[in-house]
Amino acid sequence: MSEAKVAAVTAKVGSRPGRCGPSTEGREPIGQAQPLLAVENLTKHFPLKGGLLNRTTAVVQAVDGVSFTVQTGETLGIVGESGCGKSTIARLLMHLIPADSGKIVFDGLSVGASDGLSLRELHRQMQMVFQDSYASLNPRLPVAMSIAFGPFVHGLAKPAALRRAMQLLEAVGLDPLLFANRYPHELSGGQRQRINVARALALEPRVVILDEAVSALDKSVEAQVLNLLVDLKAQFDLTYVFISHDLNVVRYISDRVMVMYLGKVVEIGPVDRLYRRPQHPYTQALLSAMPSMDPKRRTREAPLAGDPPNPISPPSGCRFRTRCPFAEGVCEAVSPVLRVPPGEELCLVACHMRVPGSGHSRAAKE
Ligand SMILES: Nc1ncnc2c1ncn2[C@@H]1O[C@H](COP(=O)(O)OP(=O)(O)OP(=O)(O)O)[C@@H](O)[C@H]1O
Ligand code: SF4
Ligand SMILES: [Mg+2]
Repeated sequence: MSEAKVAAVTAKVGSRPGRCGPSTEGREPIGQAQPLLAVENLTKHFPLKGGLLNRTTAVVQAVDGVSFTVQTGETLGIVGESGCGKSTIARLLMHLIPADSGKIVFDGLSVGASDGLSLRELHRQMQMVFQDSYASLNPRLPVAMSIAFGPFVHGLAKPAALRRAMQLLEAVGLDPLLFANRYPHELSGGQRQRINVARALALEPRVVILDEAVSALDKSVEAQVLNLLVDLKAQFDLTYVFISHDLNVVRYISDRVMVMYLGKVVEIGPVDRLYRRPQHPYTQALLSAMPSMDPKRRTREAPLAGDPPNPISPPSGCRFRTRCPFAEGVCEAVSPVLRVPPGEELCLVACHMRVPGSGHSRAAKE
């Protein structure tokens, strides 16, 4: 798109209604440290209130002692059944909700600490795209204004913010001449999700958290948006945390995958390694339930029977034990810790069978 065209569309969109506020804060200096994101022992329990006095009647253990890292430039996929805590982790990473305990370190800096990163700066550097493409956009703003809003609030002059919006529209494959002035209801779901991606990129973040961002799209549009995400990652040097229940999609886009069960991490590893030789019985069951084009890989039985247990009172010891075909006494008594199994280097697994001398009959003797 020529400069003149960008200027013309920018001027037109700039005259459309919509509120943006001024800003004073500039960028803060960012430290250099690896990994880009380090999460340690993160816990979030939601109290459930009830009764006449609105007292806490139960507690949902949504995320319980979760630790992981994300390296600069990688895509970490997060998978697990509905309710296992994936979105809660995303909200904790973004500091949209406070953690009960644990640490989140972004590029060596803690958020909110006096010598750390401000929440505002975190939200410049880390952005999120949600599943519901419509709810994430202001229905009363033309989409270019929605994209420009973040940069404008962060101190960019309105014409420059709109120019960036035009460039991002182009980057996500939407012609600014056709789309800049449209409102969210005038777009298809796939187009709206492209706008959300553009909006997330408007502040030039380093990390983008995608929570089921392509799940609501039909398969062909999903593939287009996935390919777009791959291209944008290279173009803008991004790091992704990609949350999805679709194991095929996660395999396609991720470098490493983290598997969650009932608020805990049960396995983390490089994507090829994890999909070829899963170590944890839950990962094995999830993968064997995965739809496959290969007739040899299809299964008739449901590898995972029943629903996950109630996160209000999860099973003692290993939370997967009530559905695990290998559960033994030690699984009920002791909660397995995430650790590198013998003979591995890059995987972490939380299962007594993978710990020599754990007391499980299938574990190697020490
Ligand atoms: N604000 C809240 N109050 C009470 N419980 C909550 C709250 N938010 C989430 N939960 C509970 O925490 C658990 C984890 O929820 P979360 O949304 O993180 O799951 P998820 O893995 O993202 O599931 P899905 O795949 O369905 O999106 C669930 O049992 C959920 O009901
Ligand atoms: S610790 Fe026990 S119950 Fe849990 S996955 Fe391993 S074998 Fe199964
Ligand atoms: Mg979710």
